[in-house]
Amino acid sequence: MSTSGVSSGIVVRPAARLRGRLRLPGDKSITHRALILAGIAEGTSRILGGSDGLDCNSTAGVLQALGVTVERLGPPDGGRVDRLVRSPGRAAWREPVGVLDAGNSGTTLRLMAGVLAGTPMYAILDGDASLRGRPVARIIEPLRRMGATLHARSADTLPPVTIVGRAPLTAIVHRPRVPSAQVKSAVLLAGLSAEGTVQVHEAVPTRDHTERMLRARGVSVHGAPADGAWLVTMEGGATVRALDEQVPGDVSAAAFWLVAGAAHRDAELTLESVGVNPTRRAVIDLLGRMGARIREEPVAEGAAEPMANLTVSTSDLHAIDLDADDVARAIDEIPALCLAAACASGTSRIRGAGELRRKESDRIAGIVEGLSALGVRISADGDDIEITGDAERRSFGLAGAPVHTHDDHRLAMTFAIAGLLAEGETSLDESASAAVSYPGFFSDLERMRA
Ligand code: S3P
Repeated sequence: MSTSGVSSGIVVRPAARLRGRLRLPGDKSITHRALILAGIAEGTSRILGGSDGLDCNSTAGVLQALGVTVERLGPPDGGRVDRLVRSPGRAAWREPVGVLDAGNSGTTLRLMAGVLAGTPMYAILDGDASLRGRPVARIIEPLRRMGATLHARSADTLPPVTIVGRAPLTAIVHRPRVPSAQVKSAVLLAGLSAEGTVQVHEAVPTRDHTERMLRARGVSVHGAPADGAWLVTMEGGATVRALDEQVPGDVSAAAFWLVAGAAHRDAELTLESVGVNPTRRAVIDLLGRMGARIREEPVAEGAAEPMANLTVSTSDLHAIDLDADDVARAIDEIPALCLAAACASGTSRIRGAGELRRKESDRIAGIVEGLSALGVRISADGDDIEITGDAERRSFGLAGAPVHTHDDHRLAMTFAIAGLLAEGETSLDESASAAVSYPGFFSDLERMRA
């Protein structure tokens, strides 16, 4: 993540108690898609309670460079912001004069590459140093097969990505090699310009926000089991209608508080209106399997996605074994789950977590380094992680220590939560990265110390 160069190092002290109610930032994945679909559709769409994180603001910036108007309706409130998007429709987008800056956001880069593959213009997508290290061959290959021209640095593997889009594209059947909602979404969004039926076979069903939101905007798309896989089928060449979206609280942000509440010796926290979509809620269920006391009350608010208030309280956690499918379902929450495992009795094993090495940082290396510094017995062997926990950790059994976040928002927030559970001071070398997905995280951290 690029910061202004001003040090944002922070010291986190242990919390004697954790109490409170939180409204989390709007879901990052849903906000990206709401912005992109509002930009594709001709007309006006309101996005209410969307994420005000840097990643979603990168998506808004890219759309603005293409001629879409994105206006904020009032000041942000705890990482949530209402936006009004006005678009002339994708057919009337203007070719961007400069490089499109996706910042730190893989979702912006990969989803917009899909959209631009089906838009007849020349565009370059780039980002910060972290994004320039993230794989793009996984989108270039299917989008080329659909008929677009794409190139990237380092033998077409790393950003920046140049795209010469085309319409119509050819419909394809795609079988991603690793489960990825970003790859699926790139193919579906390109498929809006394709003639025929687009199919994506997923070994594990990944988050289905793109499918739900396309369907709500008039596109024929559905998912169903097929031959032991999950098959997503979309009729190409569809028109996307403008539509308002109410964005639920981000379950990936909730994960940090669920772990804090379960692992702390004196905690009760309520998280309001959290998105509990079945393809996103794995972290809630995995923590439940570890013994976390999480109460779930459904919220009827008329949002397109299911929501619930979650109340978590001090729990006796025990170890868990996760396989590659669990990792795919909880891909963004594995760092927080590693911290939960450190505070659980027994040895937890996480297998097949290789995709974590290709996130905003190498999260396997970062979590092993950081939790080791805090006194946890944790090791990695290739793509597998082993953590020997200690239920007594919740009585401040973690050792406060300096830790490196590697400018990765999810590592920064995991280590900050660890600091609440530690004895002494935990100092993070930077805290600015949290704003990628959760701008108010450190003020919420202070509020939750009862
Ligand atoms: C996302 C998909 C996941 C996830 C990312 C957001 C999305 O990435 O890690 O934070 O919104 O589609 P992959 O598709 O690369 O697994």
